[in-house]
Amino acid sequence: MKVAIIGAKGQLGGDVVEKFAEAGDDVIPLTHSDIELENLDSVARALSSREPDVVVNTAALHQVERCEQRPGDAYAVNAIGARNLAMVTQGLRSVLIHVSTDYVFDGKKGAPYVEENVPLPLNVYGNSKLAGEYFVRTLNPRHFILRTSALYGKRPCLGKGGLNFVDLMLKLARKRGHVRVVHDEVVSPTATSQVAKQIAALSRCDAYGLYHATAEGECSWYEFAKEIFQLSNTDVHLEVATASEFPAKTPRPRYSVLENSALKNHRLNVFTSWQEGLCEYLGVAVHASVCD
Ligand SMILES: NC(=O)c1ccc[n+]([C@@H]2O[C@H](COP(=O)([O-])OP(=O)(O)OC[C@H]3O[C@@H](n4cnc5c(N)ncnc54)[C@H](OP(=O)(O)O)[C@@H]3O)[C@@H](O)[C@H]2O)c1
Repeated sequence: MKVAIIGAKGQLGGDVVEKFAEAGDDVIPLTHSDIELENLDSVARALSSREPDVVVNTAALHQVERCEQRPGDAYAVNAIGARNLAMVTQGLRSVLIHVSTDYVFDGKKGAPYVEENVPLPLNVYGNSKLAGEYFVRTLNPRHFILRTSALYGKRPCLGKGGLNFVDLMLKLARKRGHVRVVHDEVVSPTATSQVAKQIAALSRCDAYGLYHATAEGECSWYEFAKEIFQLSNTDVHLEVATASEFPAKTPRPRYSVLENSALKNHRLNVFTSWQEGLCEYLGVAVHASVCD
């Protein structure tokens, strides 16, 4: 299979490149210097001559504050970029695998969101990603949309200044010896290696559609930090904080847990618990996890 991966140097994109290469596929890694999503000509130029069977889009403008300040830029990449990709891949008869976000929901449900729940984004980032989803759904019927959440992986998250949450916690603990983390924002922290595995699995079937794609289970950021420190034997004073102590300029959902309902219905779900994903990332044995 010939697979083009957009955002190939990114946190998730790097793992996706690795996964398809391991499977022996013909991989075309496309970085930002190879393709400018918001420009239809650039998208057509990068893809048309290569005629990929599958195109995976991991690229996005996803810094929430920056999207809020520059909505035009956010929509150009996350919505128009997705439209350009959907149009070009439809013309080439390629399958499009597009990555989206838990931030399409407002977080008020208080229970895990399934694919049938009506999205209602709270901010520009979520709205622009949702618009991108709709373009993909309407313009290329051979699509997979994966909504994922709170990513961390071995490559730096380029859009967020490099450090993922796990590495940031470990750095702060080493530097300060104490850390305060919010306990009233609940997510499903998800390892990029597992999302990459899920993308590779979906690419080999034709069950096109919208999928929630996150690690199993949920935790607050505080609980996630606690697990990180326990698993890594880090000596730190960890304190509970509330989101109101760190007033964000841009509203975010307080509860953005997704249930991988469609993946499970199709018997395609590859995700393990968030604790197992974290053990794997930290290179420790799974049974050492204390939050099981
Ligand atoms: N990170 C999270 O916690 C999280 C949570 C939920 C969903 N997601 C979604 O997951 C996906 C992957 O995120 P990630 O953490 O892997 O991001 P990342 O590390 O920031 O990688 C994104 C990549 O996209 C490239 N890119 C940005 N704008 C582009 C454009 N206009 N045209 C072409 N390439 C462009 C970037 O290149 P440059 O750096 O050179 O610009 C970068 O290599 C995104 O769709 C995001 O919305 C992320």
